[in-house]
Amino acid sequence: MKPKPPVKWAGGKGQLLSQFQPLFPKSFHTYHEPFLGGGAVFFHLLPERAVLIDNNVELINFYLVVRDHLEDLLSDLPKHKNEADYYYRIRALDPEKMDPVRRASRFLYLNKAGYNGLWRVNRQGKHNVPFGRYKNPKIVDEENLRLVSAALKRARILLADFSEVLSFAKPGDFVYFDPPYHPVSETANFTSYTSDSFGKDDQVRLSQVFRELDRRGCLVMLSNSDTPFIKELYSGYDIQIVYAKRTINCRADKRGPVSELVIRNYS
Ligand SMILES: C[S@@+](CC[C@H](N)C(=O)[O-])C[C@H]1O[C@@H](n2cnc3c(N)ncnc32)[C@H](O)[C@@H]1O
Repeated sequence: MKPKPPVKWAGGKGQLLSQFQPLFPKSFHTYHEPFLGGGAVFFHLLPERAVLIDNNVELINFYLVVRDHLEDLLSDLPKHKNEADYYYRIRALDPEKMDPVRRASRFLYLNKAGYNGLWRVNRQGKHNVPFGRYKNPKIVDEENLRLVSAALKRARILLADFSEVLSFAKPGDFVYFDPPYHPVSETANFTSYTSDSFGKDDQVRLSQVFRELDRRGCLVMLSNSDTPFIKELYSGYDIQIVYAKRTINCRADKRGPVSELVIRNYS
């Protein structure tokens, strides 16, 4: 059985995998995913060797604990209660003062019992998602966590900026970038995965890393929103359009699939 992403994550690529499938390279050496998030593509491809990067400290601590201390995590998880008072007490704890296992346990609990399963922080870096009021959230999915742990054993996992991929990627490697998207409009952006958001200058920096990996002989694929700015940044590369269901939408007239870009330096 294949593992599923163990956390629900904004921008999760699960729904796009069937459209991505023909766009992945047929073969490659090491796989790199520098904006790991929920890891839908990594858990789908299950590569032999991988380098996984994200700059969210709670997320990376969680993956490291799932990989290296799964039994300790599994024994801590059942203590959590799906109750508002308990939720807000756990949310208020300072994760930096917790040991890695309890910190990962808190992270998974907040992700499952919190509203929409989202992970969002305010400008001070404090988790601010309200209690989800779900009847029976599956906080401990032991079977899946075991599959996830086994998959992660083949990976190097790093808390870093995406540009760190340049220290690891070699010719013949495959790099998949799924950055926070460039906003389609000023109000449509959701970039608070971490306390510092991903702006236009970061998109430009990312396109420079993309070009450097291309020169190096890596296979590079990137997802982003369908906007003139992104098309311009990657002009000259293969650009495909995929269609995603809207995830954040309240306006009835804006329902229906939204187009997104997949940019590649190979075809
Ligand atoms: C769109 S999400 C990736 C979603 C993922 N593909 C999935 O299927 O769940 C973007 C991720 O990039 C991370 N991120 C944001 N800025 C970053 C940076 N400068 N370097 C590395 N990771 C970053 C965020 O923490 C977030 O997890």
